[in-house]
Amino acid sequence: MVQVAVLGYGTVGSGVVEVIEKNKEKINLRSEAELNVKYILDLRDFPGDPYEDKVVHDINLILEDEEVKIVCETMGGIEPAFTFSKRALELGKSVCTSNKELVAAHGPELLEIAKANKCNYLFEASVGGGIPIIRPMNYSLTAEKIESITGILNGTTNYILTKMEREGADFSEVLKEAQEKGYAERNPEADVEGHDACRKIAILSSLMTGKYVKYQDIYTEGITKISAEDFRYAKELQTSIKLLGMSKDTKDGYEAMVAPFMISDDHPLHAVNGVFNAIFVHGNMLGDSMFYGRGAGKLPTASAVVSDVVDCARHLGKTIICIWDKEELSLKDYRDSSKEFFLRVKKEGWEKAKELFEIQQVVEIIDGEVGIVTKEMTERAFEEKAAKLPEMITRIRMEK
Ligand code: HSE
Repeated sequence: MVQVAVLGYGTVGSGVVEVIEKNKEKINLRSEAELNVKYILDLRDFPGDPYEDKVVHDINLILEDEEVKIVCETMGGIEPAFTFSKRALELGKSVCTSNKELVAAHGPELLEIAKANKCNYLFEASVGGGIPIIRPMNYSLTAEKIESITGILNGTTNYILTKMEREGADFSEVLKEAQEKGYAERNPEADVEGHDACRKIAILSSLMTGKYVKYQDIYTEGITKISAEDFRYAKELQTSIKLLGMSKDTKDGYEAMVAPFMISDDHPLHAVNGVFNAIFVHGNMLGDSMFYGRGAGKLPTASAVVSDVVDCARHLGKTIICIWDKEELSLKDYRDSSKEFFLRVKKEGWEKAKELFEIQQVVEIIDGEVGIVTKEMTERAFEEKAAKLPEMITRIRMEK
């Protein structure tokens, strides 16, 4: 029997216990062992819960129990999750986590500790919830040189943008409704400002490069400035607006960014709507592939955590290779990356805009302003020109 402990009995943690119980037969068969949840660590008690007798409040009970071989960290946040994970790994207990914040901040260090102690630190659920993407990057795409990753990595913002598009509604209106329905957090900053997607693209970029891409180095912009009017232009241009996390291996260095983009209707990510996530990967041999599914939610995320538990059970005493070095990767300055831009300019700035930008398309659908699509240019050149155009209302990057 392989004993498992779950740290944090919230949405994902309770899902982990439920998945292990519901799919017991299949999971045990695939693990080649009988898995049993021995402890659930939480600050709270859960009277009446079917697993209330497993609830403990002291991490030391778990750490000191030699029978516990696998720990699921579903607490979220940096501390105490970091200390608990580190101590478990130092004792040779494998850790499976959904905690993207911790993985993005301390992934290489925790992987190193796991390796030194012949156990595993696995994090399938940290990116894309239930979508298998970490294991494919680690196992299935090992013959590839991955050249780019583009992802819709946050369900909350994709839900908001999809609703804005379908209903012609404004950001604040849809956010309020999403909060009332429980689709968005009461404090939605991490999602709507792009911080959550930034952690996830940092993890994927690190696996793509094998080096440590620090999330703090990734230029990040959220969706709070996107308006109903922007969606009118997007429709006219046969595009949609999506919050994308991007990572590219270019001839002059690696680029990574999180920002809202207008994405054309022939791009596979265009069709990813609502709470769904998708990760579009381009490899030099395989070409394009896309991983699609539920990027959040109790059971999808728990399923990914439990898939890691199975992998740990299959590899007791042995570390699965994961190439993510501590060496930091220096990203290209985002201002040196090139793309097309869409901008809205007040009518009185139109003549000046024509002088400043090489324009490939003009859209006039709202009185008193002009919509412009520029030719490809660097972010730096765009910023310099935009600074000379006070009549600019907004700008959105474009992805073909
Ligand atoms: N807040 C995240 C989202 C949860 O909306 O995608 C999953 O990481």
